[in-house]
Amino acid sequence: MAKIDRAGFGTKIGAVLAAAGSAVGLGNIWRFPFETGNHGGAAFILIYLGCVLFMGIPIMIAEFVIGSRSRANAARSYRVLAPGTQWHWVGRMGILAGFLILSYYSVVAGWTLEFIFEAVTNSFAGKSPADFIASFNGFVGDPWRPAICLLLFMLATHFVIVRGVEKGIEKSSNILMPVLFVLLLLLAVCSVSLPGAMNGLKFLLEPDFSKVDGNVLLGAMGQAFFSLSLGLGCLGTYASYFRSDTNLPKTAFNVAWIDTGVAVLAGFIIFPAAFSVGIQPDAGPSLIFITLPNVFQQAFGNLTWLAILLSVMFYVLLALAALTSTISQHEMVTAYLHEEFNMTRKKAAWLVTGGSFVLGLFCSLSLGVGKDYTIFGLTLFDLFDFVTAKIMLPAGGLCISIFVGWYLDKKIVWEAISNNGTFRLYKVVIFILKFFAPIAIAFIFINELGLIR
Ligand code: PHE
Repeated sequence: MAKIDRAGFGTKIGAVLAAAGSAVGLGNIWRFPFETGNHGGAAFILIYLGCVLFMGIPIMIAEFVIGSRSRANAARSYRVLAPGTQWHWVGRMGILAGFLILSYYSVVAGWTLEFIFEAVTNSFAGKSPADFIASFNGFVGDPWRPAICLLLFMLATHFVIVRGVEKGIEKSSNILMPVLFVLLLLLAVCSVSLPGAMNGLKFLLEPDFSKVDGNVLLGAMGQAFFSLSLGLGCLGTYASYFRSDTNLPKTAFNVAWIDTGVAVLAGFIIFPAAFSVGIQPDAGPSLIFITLPNVFQQAFGNLTWLAILLSVMFYVLLALAALTSTISQHEMVTAYLHEEFNMTRKKAAWLVTGGSFVLGLFCSLSLGVGKDYTIFGLTLFDLFDFVTAKIMLPAGGLCISIFVGWYLDKKIVWEAISNNGTFRLYKVVIFILKFFAPIAIAFIFINELGLIR
């Protein structure tokens, strides 16, 4: 049998930052704004915040319990905690979700490399909003450039994975997250002070509940799971590397507020700018890529060196934030193959890299030359996004709440969730896991996916 070299996080803060590194990424800066734009703004955001608080945080604690008490990969953890049952299928579904997300997420992560290149070469200079849209569409429609970016990004992820968990992930998360936060804050201030930014602020802050339907609920719930890296066992895999005295509820709260803070900040960057330059908020996945260059251009256009410096910094940090997320997706699949199929970590990592590159390539092409081939009316890229974020992750969350709320040994659950009696909201978390989260997720599914008409 291949030697299983399970890694561990050196320090507690390192573990928290790595989990936050998994959570913070394109989900916050790319997906949150476009989903908010698609679903009408402020009301979506409020529902999203409700989902984070009343589903996301308790389910994250539950995932931490599963990972930290089993010390195993996503599928094996159920076999350790519930031997002889079928619960391990929840872990398997999560691993599949992680693999699918890795494939299409890396496509967008690759786009950030193109934008680093454009920022370095000062190609944003002198372009109008319409030019930015045209050049983005030209790039995504090209069969080669996005594919090369995807390949480079996959290789970067692969490289960190084979160097091991502690050295690779922890080191990078420690420095980069705080820098990213400060830069986002600066950009938000710039964006809000652009002419006509008020309408963007209104879009963000004035809820119109008449537009809320099942689709908005499903969107907000899916976004919460996606952004918090929840429901697939990814954070559980990280928790299996936590030190045994890690305070799980506190870690979950910290990860959730950092993640939500970054998403809301991204909203304050994108919408004021989009309204200011006349870009539609429901432009979809292209939203940040056609809006942000305008911010650099409008706010710093006559100070070329500053525009270049800040835009390069931004896209580098965005790429790195995406990298700490792809690492976590890759790691959960690699850990599974390595530990379950008797293969070396290196071989497992190559399989994951190769497989997700091929799938990612199809996703990438489905936005350009293949855009006429649709499945259920969706391109392959959109289908992967829909099936993972809006179905597989919430379904995983539903199973995880039931597993920890109802099935798992009460003593283990009490010790872990109450942090040996020090966490006072223990009963609230248990109530949510037992009743609220499963019922709410099932309700949203039934309501929106047309299971009952
Ligand atoms: N949460 C990550 C982000 O916001 C994406 C992700 C999803 C990472 C699922 C891991 C697992 O970018």
